[in-house]
Amino acid sequence: MTTSRLSRPPLRAFAACLAAAGLLACTSRPAETKPSGTGALGASAEDLAAISRVHREYVAAHNASDADRLAIEAAGLRKPYKPKGALPKAAGPGREWTTADLVALEPKLKGRNFKNGEKMYVAARCIVCHRFAGDGGATGPDLSQVAGRFGLKDLAEAIVEPSKVISDQYKASVVKTADGKTITGRVVSEGSGKLVIVTDPEDSTKVAEVAKDDIESIKPSAVSLMPEKLLNPLGETEVLDLLAYMLSRGDPNHPMFRK
Ligand code: HEC
Repeated sequence: MTTSRLSRPPLRAFAACLAAAGLLACTSRPAETKPSGTGALGASAEDLAAISRVHREYVAAHNASDADRLAIEAAGLRKPYKPKGALPKAAGPGREWTTADLVALEPKLKGRNFKNGEKMYVAARCIVCHRFAGDGGATGPDLSQVAGRFGLKDLAEAIVEPSKVISDQYKASVVKTADGKTITGRVVSEGSGKLVIVTDPEDSTKVAEVAKDDIESIKPSAVSLMPEKLLNPLGETEVLDLLAYMLSRGDPNHPMFRK
């Protein structure tokens, strides 16, 4: 797979979607959300032909984790994320952080410590699932532009109550089988008569395979793949540095870091 094929924006969007959310999320959009005359993501016929080639190659790679890696690397988006050794630990003292607690910290979002914010992004495990400032996993959306769309309140809510608003592309599915098993996870492949489901959002090599004939129902999960309480080990200073790091979009020269 060459990158030139993916040079047009709809293709890049498709590849990014594929890399982050898996095949079903990117190809099975409800028809009414598509603008008429174009396919998912507003692609032209030419784009769709290329998307379908990428799609075929993706499905052809039957191992889910390999397929994910393939899509990501082929698109030149990122190398697979692997934590370099043990993640750093927060010093605390931790507490049960609420959205309101975080919003109330607003006046203290100045004179922050950039390096510590960067460290807390790793300590709170965000990096395992989210790409930000050039590094991180692909289970969740890239957070690099989050400050452009999210203010403090939205960011706080997304972290403390991940299931309140779940972005469509990153929804987990709940698959029920005829013999009464329930499997929850991210569907990454639907080729060759079976679904491949990543069951651990932190490890895309952990997969379950279900033959399509054995499936009784598939429903979108009401619970986010993002865990709750991730901030609870962090103390106030650590939470502030993390929030500043994210809201600045990883910019050490942002006024929030001015001493
Ligand atoms: C185990 C994987 C995982 C971890 C760890 C994780 N997230 Fe997430 N996050 C997700 C997934 C999946 C979504 C998308 C589904 C959703 O909206 O709930 C998401 C959504 C988000 C969103 C909303 C983004 C948007 O565009 O709507 C924000 C903000 C966010 N996470 C921040 C964080 C921060 C900050 C941390 C660390 C404290 C973190 N996440 C840790 C998986 C994770």
